Amino acid sequence: MMPRHLVPSSSPCSRVRPSRAAAAPTTIPISTTTRLHQRLIFPAAAAAAAAAAPMDGATTRPSPPHHSHRLEALSREHETIPERLAVVTGGNRGIGLEVCRQLSVQGVMVILTARNEKRGKDAVESLRHECNLSNIAYHPLDILDDGSVASLAKHIETRYGKLDILVNNAGVGGVVVDQDGLRALNIDPNTWRSFNCFLSKSIQMLSGKAAHLLERVVVQTYDEAVKCLNTNYYGIERVTEGLLPLLKQSTSGARIVNTTSLRSELQRMPNEKLREELRDADAWDEKRIEAMLDEFLEALEHGRLEEAGWPTMLPAYSMSKMVVNLYTRILAKRHPEMRINCVHPGFVKTEINWNTGVIPPEEGARGAVKLALLLPDDGTTGCYFDQTELGVAW
Ligand SMILES: NC(=O)c1ccc[n+]([C@@H]2O[C@H](COP(=O)([O-])OP(=O)(O)OC[C@H]3O[C@@H](n4cnc5c(N)ncnc54)[C@H](OP(=O)(O)O)[C@@H]3O)[C@@H](O)[C@H]2O)c1
Repeated sequence: MMPRHLVPSSSPCSRVRPSRAAAAPTTIPISTTTRLHQRLIFPAAAAAAAAAAPMDGATTRPSPPHHSHRLEALSREHETIPERLAVVTGGNRGIGLEVCRQLSVQGVMVILTARNEKRGKDAVESLRHECNLSNIAYHPLDILDDGSVASLAKHIETRYGKLDILVNNAGVGGVVVDQDGLRALNIDPNTWRSFNCFLSKSIQMLSGKAAHLLERVVVQTYDEAVKCLNTNYYGIERVTEGLLPLLKQSTSGARIVNTTSLRSELQRMPNEKLREELRDADAWDEKRIEAMLDEFLEALEHGRLEEAGWPTMLPAYSMSKMVVNLYTRILAKRHPEMRINCVHPGFVKTEINWNTGVIPPEEGARGAVKLALLLPDDGTTGCYFDQTELGVAW
């Protein structure tokens, strides 16, 4: 099947795929992309969630012109290169902001990134003044935008020449929510959370019940699904690829932490054959992931998710996080000199779940911070963590 490169109708930074796929985009007509898929339901994602090697400079690092080399050297002479430098995406609020705070408290120099300048700068100011932290700086980053990633990479290259920690935190829920309607349902978050404790068959059953309850207030649209895959998976891939040359220059052992979700667990994938295939990371690469996501979107577009065996609860969000896990494993194999893991932060009270979560961001950030700071150089890589503990997602 021809890969389809989908462009959501609303966002200016709307390229669905990383740049390699941008060559022959096909635009989905607005009339198609705005159609609602009313049959698909989602317990508040949330709810359910409620549930060094030296850099091979010639190939991976662009050679700046002669005068840039001089400028770079001058610039670095006047900078103290931090022992550990971290980039956190989506650092302006929620779990990302708290990851920035905890890393900074531990003495890491943190680049708090955010797509909105005011929100990003306000967040840095709040950490500087309220928490008395000075080792934190803002840099713009929209993870949907190749140029924005390139600009961040250039900034780090010029100023620091390396990166030690990348926390891919930014994410979206991928659904349209009637928040008043959701509140009116008055669902106890613990009810949703308990669904996660059941075996897969029960999950399917209870999820159906949950889906029924929520079908009017939480709706999967095609546009939101595209935005969700773009942000939660292709965004992570774009940022990681853009910053990998700098991570290879780490002097303290590079760490990548990808934020995933309980919804990524393969037991939630109804298609048994695909579920088994997804367990074998060796059989996958980015191209195959892209082809699978195209198939998923096509099924969603034609209202065939259930029939084709795709997840029907928070479908796009679940798929996005399943492939984050897969990508984490692929990357970990490809870069054995780094420690690359993914983490479910817990059911955290943040905007992504309309503040229905049950633990504070302080707790939700702990897993990512542990994976960023506490893994030894020969520690776990290519694994899934449920908060601070090793978990099973595949
Ligand atoms: N909260 C939970 O219970 C829970 C559970 C499982 C997994 N997670 C995951 O945890 C991560 C953080 O979520 P959260 O709970 O802290 O939610 P949140 O408060 O909604 O924060 C999401 C962050 O992502 C940013 N973001 C979204 N799209 C972006 C883009 N294109 N470029 C740059 N930044 C972008 C948002 O920026 P703006 O402010 O500009 O929108 C915001 O800073 C997500 O990956 C989420 O899937 C959360």
